Amino acid sequence: MTVLSREYLESLARRYLNEAMINEKVGNKIDAAKNYRKASEIFMMLSNNYKDAISASIYKSLAESCVKKAEELEKESQIAIAVNNAGDNNLEEAVKEFIIVRKTSVRFEDVIGLDNVKQTLIETIVYPYKRPDLFPLGWPKGILMYGPPGCGKTLIVAALVNEIDGIFMHVNAANLMSKWLGESEKKVAAIFNYARKVGLTKPVIIFLDEADALLGVYEHEIGGEVRVRNQFLQEMDGLLDKGEKNFVYVIAATNKPWRLDTGFLRRFQKRIYVPAPDLQARRQLFEYYTKPFNLSLDVDLNKLAELTEGYSASDIRDIVLDAYLRTLRELFRSGDVEGKPRPISMQDFLEVLKIRKPSISKELLKRYEEWSAMYGS
Ligand SMILES: Nc1ncnc2c1ncn2[C@@H]1O[C@H](COP(=O)(O)OP(=O)(O)OP(=O)(O)O)[C@@H](O)[C@H]1O
Ligand SMILES: [Mg+2]
Repeated sequence: MTVLSREYLESLARRYLNEAMINEKVGNKIDAAKNYRKASEIFMMLSNNYKDAISASIYKSLAESCVKKAEELEKESQIAIAVNNAGDNNLEEAVKEFIIVRKTSVRFEDVIGLDNVKQTLIETIVYPYKRPDLFPLGWPKGILMYGPPGCGKTLIVAALVNEIDGIFMHVNAANLMSKWLGESEKKVAAIFNYARKVGLTKPVIIFLDEADALLGVYEHEIGGEVRVRNQFLQEMDGLLDKGEKNFVYVIAATNKPWRLDTGFLRRFQKRIYVPAPDLQARRQLFEYYTKPFNLSLDVDLNKLAELTEGYSASDIRDIVLDAYLRTLRELFRSGDVEGKPRPISMQDFLEVLKIRKPSISKELLKRYEEWSAMYGS
């Protein structure tokens, strides 16, 4: 076996793992679980193909721990977590589970396209902090990002954590909703109390991912959801109070903005559309995601960008990985496990495109347009 082919697989597994950890860190448990599962497949592949016993068993146990992790996350994303019954004595202790500590390596340059979104986020958060005197009427505290799934809303906040010197707190339905009555709204109050205290001296960003799940209006609600929503809105009002000169921001993200009620929207003055990638962005996404791989000369990234209207950024990443997996599968089938996978060809991409359909339909886009026309800003 050459070191190279093993390296290829390992680096692929690492990418999935890395991705999974990023997803997990920002609370995107569903994608995290998917990526752990993909990493586990690669580790299994490694384990089956490298017969020396020690490596095989290491890969196998890596694969198993990835599956275990995925199962845990899948479970958590369905069931609300029971939150610890922390006392009030220590504010930070009470909200520790919501504070994002370990920084990932994602930077703004890893978020392709979306320059306006990056710019707006930086301006909204950093300018008031640097020059509060220039904002006599206060500044926007609520920022809503909305747009089709898989186009970078969660990713951009993961990058923001590394671009802004501040404290990030992550809140979503899974880590907030408690099975204990009254516990969830206490948590909301604690999060905001902590943020307002710390936010006097540095930016504190409360990231409300998948806001529709937490604060959307649904037909069948149990009391707990209504109380959490009310508590949240009340806390937002506190923040918006002109007398408060803190640097606390709430960034909410959703792919179903129509689920949010007007009470919620009123408190999010800044609304940013995070669009599906256009032709140029798709070309850049193909470039970015094929960088680690060997491409044959016939691969035409411009053509691929043209062929992928309606595909999300995350679709494009998956297309590249699927195309690469075709070359790996071929290598292993040929029995030449020592060898190096052949370069990815245009044909590989075209075959993958035949199977993988775009995840963003015209109707869905129209729905965002209509919503933007009414509520965008
Ligand atoms: N603009 C982008 N540049 C590079 N990669 C991206 C971009 N957008 C999405 N991706 C890839 O797709 C994955 C999923 O994207 P992300 O979680 O940010 O989507 P989202 O907009 O939050 O979707 P959802 O509405 O479903 O929560 C990212 O982890 C990343 O690998
Ligand atoms: Mg998301």
